[in-house]
Amino acid sequence: MKVLFATSEVWPLIKTGGLGDVSYSLPHALQEKNLDVRLVLPAYRDVLNKLDSFKTLGWLSINLGGSNRDVRILEATHEQFKMPIWLVDAQHLFDREGNPYSHSNGYDWPDNAERFTLFSQAVAALSLDKLDQGWKADVVHCNDWQTGLVAAFLDHEPERPRRVFTIHNLAYSGSFSKDEYDRLRLPSAWWSMEGVEFYGNLSMLKAGIVYSDAVTTVSPTYAKEICTAEFGYGLEGVLSSRSYKLTGILNGIDTNVWNPSTDTLIPFNFTAQRRNPGKQKNKKALLESYGVTAEKEQLDAPLLGLVSRLVEQKGIDMVLEAIPTILDETTARIVIIGTGHAYIEAQLKQLNQKYPDRVLVTIGYDEEKAHLLEAGCDIFLMPSRFEPCGLNQMYSLSYGTLPIVNRTGGLADTVVDADEANDEESSFKPNGFVLEAPNTAALIKTIQRALSLYENKKSWQQLQRNAMTQDFSWEKSADAYIEIYNN
Ligand code: ADP
Ligand code: GLC
Repeated sequence: MKVLFATSEVWPLIKTGGLGDVSYSLPHALQEKNLDVRLVLPAYRDVLNKLDSFKTLGWLSINLGGSNRDVRILEATHEQFKMPIWLVDAQHLFDREGNPYSHSNGYDWPDNAERFTLFSQAVAALSLDKLDQGWKADVVHCNDWQTGLVAAFLDHEPERPRRVFTIHNLAYSGSFSKDEYDRLRLPSAWWSMEGVEFYGNLSMLKAGIVYSDAVTTVSPTYAKEICTAEFGYGLEGVLSSRSYKLTGILNGIDTNVWNPSTDTLIPFNFTAQRRNPGKQKNKKALLESYGVTAEKEQLDAPLLGLVSRLVEQKGIDMVLEAIPTILDETTARIVIIGTGHAYIEAQLKQLNQKYPDRVLVTIGYDEEKAHLLEAGCDIFLMPSRFEPCGLNQMYSLSYGTLPIVNRTGGLADTVVDADEANDEESSFKPNGFVLEAPNTAALIKTIQRALSLYENKKSWQQLQRNAMTQDFSWEKSADAYIEIYNN
C-alpha cells in the first residue's frame, strides 16, 4: 500500500512540538510494517540546510489567486530517514528564517493562508502522481489544519486516494478571513456550512474534517472530548455528527530515540531493572549543568521537571502559582525548559532570580537538555488543561520519572494514579499521579502527595518499575492506522 504522509513539521529536520515527533515515528512504524511511505513537507530554509542531498523531481503548475505558478518539487535524503522525503519548494513562501508558522518576533506569518493552501494543493497533486513518477498514493494521510485543504482539493478527483486526516490539536484551526478566501480564489462550492466555512471564516481544520474519508485524533479520550462543547472549539457538532468516521488512536513514541538504555543524549544509560544508580548520576549532571552543587543532600531532595511549549494549554500558570508553596514546605527543586509566550518566560525568569538554586530555568528549545531532564528528574509536571495525546508524559514514564498530570486526553489514557487499585486486566498499572481537578490547589495537593510517597522508597520503586515496563511503542497503534487505511 502506498501512503503519502503530509506534514508541516518533522523531527529532526524541523520541530515545534509533538507533531514533529509523530511525523517521524509514525511513518517509520508504518514502513516497518511493509507499507510504501513517502513524506511530504514544505521546503523551509532550515530543512534544506539539514538534508544530506536532494534533486529536482519535477515542477507542478499551481493555480492560486487566479494565476499559475510553477513550483519545484524536490526529493531528498537524510541519514535518519528510511524513506524518500518530498519537499514543496515555493521559495517565496518557505525560504525564510525561523518557525514554520511564525516570525521570530512571535507573530504569525501574514501569508500563512497562501503558504498552506499552496502546500495542500501540491500534496493533492503529488498524491495523484501529477509528476508521472509511477507512484500514485492509495492513501493520503494529512495532519492538522496546515494540510486540511488537501482533502478538499481531492474532492472532485474521480481517481483520488483515500483521505485520512489526523487532528493533533483542535485548538489550532487555521482560520482565515473571507477576504483571504476570495483573494486566493478558492472554489465557491466549498463555501458553505457543510464545507470550509466556519462562523464567517475559512477553517482549514474544518475542511480536513469534512472532506476526509476518515478522521483520527491522537488518543481515545480526546476523540470523545472534542465532541463536547468544553473541548470542541465550536466544532463539536461537526465532529459528533461525523462520529462514524472519527477514531482516537493513541500515539506511540520512538523507542530508538527515547530509550534510557540507549539514549545517546544522556551521560548515563539505565534500564528498568537497574535504574537508580544511573538516574542519580544523571540527576547530578542535570543539577551541575545549572551550577548547583550536587552532594548527597541535593541528590536526596526530590527534583521536579517540566519541558513544554509555554502556552495556556499546558497549565504552566498553575505550576508558577504552586512553586512558592512547594518550595516553602519541602526541599524540592524544579527544572523547567520551555519557550513560548513572553509573559510566561518573564515570570519564569523572575522565579529563577528569586530562588536561584531551586528554580532552574532554560528559556529556549533545547533537545539535549530535555533528554537529560527526563533522565535526571524524579517527577515530571504536566497539568495540561487539555492534552490531545502528550508525548512528554510517555517519555517520562519510560525514564522512570513519574508524571503528575491532569485527567484529560492522552494523559488520562496513559497515567494511572498511584492510589488506584492495581487492575490486572489493564495494560497500565499505577505509574504516576492524577489531579482531582485542573486547578492550583489540586496541583499543590497532588505534588505534596507525590513528595510524601517519594519518601517511601519501596512504593516509589514499584511505581517506577510499572512506568518503565509499560509498552509505548507504535506496534499496536500503527496497526490501528493500517486498519483505517484499509477501510
Ligand atoms: P505538544 O505537541 O502539545 O507541544 P507533546 O507532549 O506532544 O506536546 O510534545 C512536545 C514535544 O516537544 C516533546 O518532544 C518535547 O520534548 C518537545 N519540546 C517542547 N518544548 C521543548 C523545549 N523547549 N526544548 C526541547 N524540547 C521541547
Ligand atoms: C499536539 C498535541 C499533543 C500531541 C501532539 C502529537 O501538539 O498538543 O498533545 O501529543 O500533537 O500528536
